[in-house]
Amino acid sequence: MSKMTLGVNIDHVAVLREARRVNDPDILQALYVACENGADQITIHLREDRRHIQDNDVKNILMHSKLPVNLECSINKEILNILSSLKPHRATLVPEKREEVTTEGGLDVFSYEDEIRYAIEQLHDALIPVSLFVDPTIEAMEKSKELGAEMVELHTGLYSNLFAMLHSNLPYSHHSVKELQLPRYELETRLEKALNAIKTSALHARKIGLEVAAGHGLNYNNLDEIMHIDAITELNIGQSIIARSVFTGLGDAVKEMKRVTTR
Ligand code: PXP
Repeated sequence: MSKMTLGVNIDHVAVLREARRVNDPDILQALYVACENGADQITIHLREDRRHIQDNDVKNILMHSKLPVNLECSINKEILNILSSLKPHRATLVPEKREEVTTEGGLDVFSYEDEIRYAIEQLHDALIPVSLFVDPTIEAMEKSKELGAEMVELHTGLYSNLFAMLHSNLPYSHHSVKELQLPRYELETRLEKALNAIKTSALHARKIGLEVAAGHGLNYNNLDEIMHIDAITELNIGQSIIARSVFTGLGDAVKEMKRVTTR
């Protein structure tokens, strides 16, 4: 089996910390635990609104990480300047809207062609390789190559949403209400189409010389099919890992507090 690189996205640790603006949980501890337990890469997103990762986190993570750091960012000039000076191992350009809950949809490589080309040039000047977070279409693969990226990350959000709708009784996402009213066979058809788009895009990207990652909404249940796509060599996963860690760790955390409070 080919080796798949696992990029662990630790943004959500910073989300929890920012809820209180204290240094608990400590992002460097998250980095350490991820490193010690099999992560191949650390992924973080320096958002324009700094809702989770802060500039200092990026500096500290880059200083202490034994693993490559994949830094996601928008094509905002101020952010690009920060990246150029901090020099992560790779930059992944993502679309960003302040009102969104998370990164919804891939980068529009057609409408923002010039801005993206310029951003890639700036990052290359700083010797930072660039990946583009794009929707899985052949056209987006072609355009990403033309713009000068080394890599693409395929947005798996649609696949993940449809998978969750088919395999769980719970509404997965508040964006999916319309789809939830669809008959099962229609959801199955759409899921197959979404998976096919990922497969054909990954294959095409490899053929034209791009490295291929995938991410968004991937979890412990929906990865089987993705793992069979040889052209994909890297996954970036955050929400499901951090969400699971709450429950794999909550029992011990309560026990420890009980011990401290019954001394
Ligand atoms: N890859 C990219 C480019 C992302 O923007 C995100 C979300 O921050 C992820 C991967 C991880 O997605 P999730 O948290 O759903 O696993």
